[in-house]
Amino acid sequence: MRKTVIPLVIWYSLALITSCKKKPAAEPQQFITLQSTASFPMGSAVNSPRIKGSYYYQGTLTTEYNSITPDYELKFDWTEPQNGVYNYTDGDFLVAFAAQHHIRVHAHNLIWHQALPNWVINFQGDSVAWENLFKTHIESEAAHYKGQVASWDVVNEAIRDDDGTLRNQDVNPGDGSIWRRHLGPDYIARAFQYAHEADPQALLFYNDYGQEWNSVKLDSMIALVVGLKNRGVPISGIGMQMHIDINADNAGITTALKKLAATGLKVHISELDISVNPGNDPNIVFTSALQIAQAGKFQFIAETYRATVPAAQQYGITTWEFSDADSWIPAFFHRKDWPLSFDSLYKKKPAYYGLLKGLKD
Ligand code: G3I
Repeated sequence: MRKTVIPLVIWYSLALITSCKKKPAAEPQQFITLQSTASFPMGSAVNSPRIKGSYYYQGTLTTEYNSITPDYELKFDWTEPQNGVYNYTDGDFLVAFAAQHHIRVHAHNLIWHQALPNWVINFQGDSVAWENLFKTHIESEAAHYKGQVASWDVVNEAIRDDDGTLRNQDVNPGDGSIWRRHLGPDYIARAFQYAHEADPQALLFYNDYGQEWNSVKLDSMIALVVGLKNRGVPISGIGMQMHIDINADNAGITTALKKLAATGLKVHISELDISVNPGNDPNIVFTSALQIAQAGKFQFIAETYRATVPAAQQYGITTWEFSDADSWIPAFFHRKDWPLSFDSLYKKKPAYYGLLKGLKD
């Protein structure tokens, strides 16, 4: 009995194995994502603690986006906290994470009147000393990330909102530019030159906000970048931050994109978020009506970007983070708000589908 059982077991096992016909390998399912739908890079601002701290964050980021902008890790106060002492640890983490996931890095930013360490704010020196401080920082950081980042916001927010002139520490101490005060108005051109010399391959952007609602600032910005371009300064593009709300004027958005595209430079919608509570209503509820209005505005922006900026100049659309949980707006404006494409549990909102629809042909 025993002798006949064993062969049967073996037979049966073999029969079972051979009878399991190999299923044809399933076609890899093409998931519909922001990055797979867009004809240009889709980006998000990110920060290193969030990437390290959440698999939801990491998973959404690597699935939906193919470009990142470090929130603070590449800024002056973070990379050179003391004179000549550099700290690239957090930036290195981000560029390594991006390389691992084949994600573009848009570096942000080399020169800004904010996010400065105290040693710069309190620096005492003549114009030669200031120029050296400025040049050394740009050269060090741009060289460090050479070959690891695709582009830089070289200068951020150099133009005043009220009259379109250059921010100047002398004129408006609260919101002026220490760089303009100590280096003169042409510091912007030299920032681009130093960055280009340190990393000739990187695309170099001027980044600012308000183009869609402030025609004085828009025209001043265009005069600045066209002037730089015409002088042969190595500028590649303009960042239009687009921190807007659901009431933003569509005509203003369209006009700004058309005018920026007319410069022939690349146009990057660089920090998009769409507030639903610009009036700071403490009792606001994120109603379906608000969700639908926000979705419609995301859709409009994607459609208008595609329609007004020639493909060769479309550097991409980047939101300033991607989940409402991580937006800078509620804390900065001390209000309830839901400005992004994913909710605080990283679930897709109607805003996500509005953006996706606007990206589709
Ligand atoms: O993550 C660190 C934490 O580890 C540390 O303990 C803590 C205290 O030092 O700092 C935390 O980093 C902070 C970071 O926000 C994340 O919360 C930085 O100090 C803080 O300076 C940083 O603020 C950023 C701000 O720029 C200044 O760099 C905001 O997140 C960021 O949203 C904001 O972004 C700006 C753009 O660069 C330019 N356009 C406007 C936009 C919004 O203001």
